[in-house]
Amino acid sequence: IVQSFAQDFRPNYHYTPPKNWVNDPNGLVYLDGEYHLFYQYNPFGDKWGHMSWGHAVSKDLIKWETLPLALPEIQNGDGSTTMIFSGCVVVDSFNTSGLFKAGFKKGLIAVFTSHVSKPGQDLAQHQSLAYSSDKGRTWKYFDKNPVLDIGLTNFRDPNVIWWPSEKKWIMTVVKPLEYIVQFYSSKDLKKWTFMSEFGKQGDMTKIWECPSLVKIPIVNTAETKWVLMISSGHRQAGYLAMQYFVGDFDGNSFKPQKQNEVFYVDEGKDFYAAVPFYNLPKNQKNPIIIGWTNDWEYANDIPAPDGYRGGFSVARKLSLYKTGNTYKLQQQPIISEKLTKEELFLSPGYSLNSKLGEKTANSYALSLDINLGTSKGFDLELLKTAEHYLKLRYDVASNMLSLDRINSGKTDFHQRFPSVESVKVMPEKNKLRLDILVDRTLVEVYVNGGKVVLTDLVFPERLKTVEVLKWRE
Ligand code: FRU
Repeated sequence: IVQSFAQDFRPNYHYTPPKNWVNDPNGLVYLDGEYHLFYQYNPFGDKWGHMSWGHAVSKDLIKWETLPLALPEIQNGDGSTTMIFSGCVVVDSFNTSGLFKAGFKKGLIAVFTSHVSKPGQDLAQHQSLAYSSDKGRTWKYFDKNPVLDIGLTNFRDPNVIWWPSEKKWIMTVVKPLEYIVQFYSSKDLKKWTFMSEFGKQGDMTKIWECPSLVKIPIVNTAETKWVLMISSGHRQAGYLAMQYFVGDFDGNSFKPQKQNEVFYVDEGKDFYAAVPFYNLPKNQKNPIIIGWTNDWEYANDIPAPDGYRGGFSVARKLSLYKTGNTYKLQQQPIISEKLTKEELFLSPGYSLNSKLGEKTANSYALSLDINLGTSKGFDLELLKTAEHYLKLRYDVASNMLSLDRINSGKTDFHQRFPSVESVKVMPEKNKLRLDILVDRTLVEVYVNGGKVVLTDLVFPERLKTVEVLKWRE
């Protein structure tokens, strides 16, 4: 069997839908040995539209099985439709909502944005519910939707947590155009009361979307901090990324630590709308997120020869580490691929290819421990073909690490796609550790144990690929 060009584009160990368009991950939840990944999905085509929730499940966060559509778009009968925008799923184990049979502990409730529109006209955005008694296989829309309506056409992306000490639900939701995150509370998921808001600071170069509030352990301590993640602008003006604030949350309001820098979850161009899993197994103390690997700047135009467009990052386990007086995010990929480990000492003419030889393909994971020696830096050329490569460059003098896809293959489908991003990374003991996930059209680079992460889409030519590491004079 000859592999077609199209099949070469579909990532191997990252989840992509069998066909059609996807964006944000939604309703990440664990229940009874199963992880659920719902997602923004267009059942009718490979561009954004008719937003509904698609569904996939996994036992290990690695292999995913696609299930039938979970939440379809609603035709309202008056010519308007309600699209099912982003949101979350919680387990209502105490039946606080009263939507399940008495004593039933496994009821799932989806809290999502109901986006009402007519062709060419947005009418409303409010928060609504759907519920399922059969582990997310079938759903009913709550008959008194919406449950939270403040009369705006931009008010969305609810993310709900349980606050045990006061036996209440807390919703984090955003007013995108105002750069404001709001917190609401509820006893039953049906009636919501405003508590507080946070915003108008940090990165405001793009609208704010998909907020979430999550408690994260600090490495090597028994302490935790609250982190507020928001999908918004990129360090490089005009692109999208996610920023985060570290601080404290008392069940009512979020107080950020004073930090004079904006922090980004991922420095690449293609990591957005990530949210945490709800109800992880008890022994899993660290939150886990999954992000959409695309950028609205060109999302609708990326090549889709296989009939699907868009996909997701691997699951990432989150922790915080302290540096000076600030806490920063550290991310660890959850993969089954064995990381091919190499310890490298840079010297002139070094070729990684000569070491890895035939083992290299276009879908693998590689862990490089790079001792910088006295070199001025290096260029690592990934997914290299006769003419093209994705270049990861480190410059010792400036401590800048950059990912350059200008000459990476197919880039002309959108003028914003060919691009380079750079971020400052300090070596640790004169070394850089790079855990590199290469998966055909998706590359995730975890630097120094995930203290910096860069995720980029890339569309190489269809050729057997090799990697080349060059030492720079
Ligand atoms: C983020 C987003 C959300 C919205 C959804 C619509 O990518 O714009 O704010 O709920 O996508 O598909």
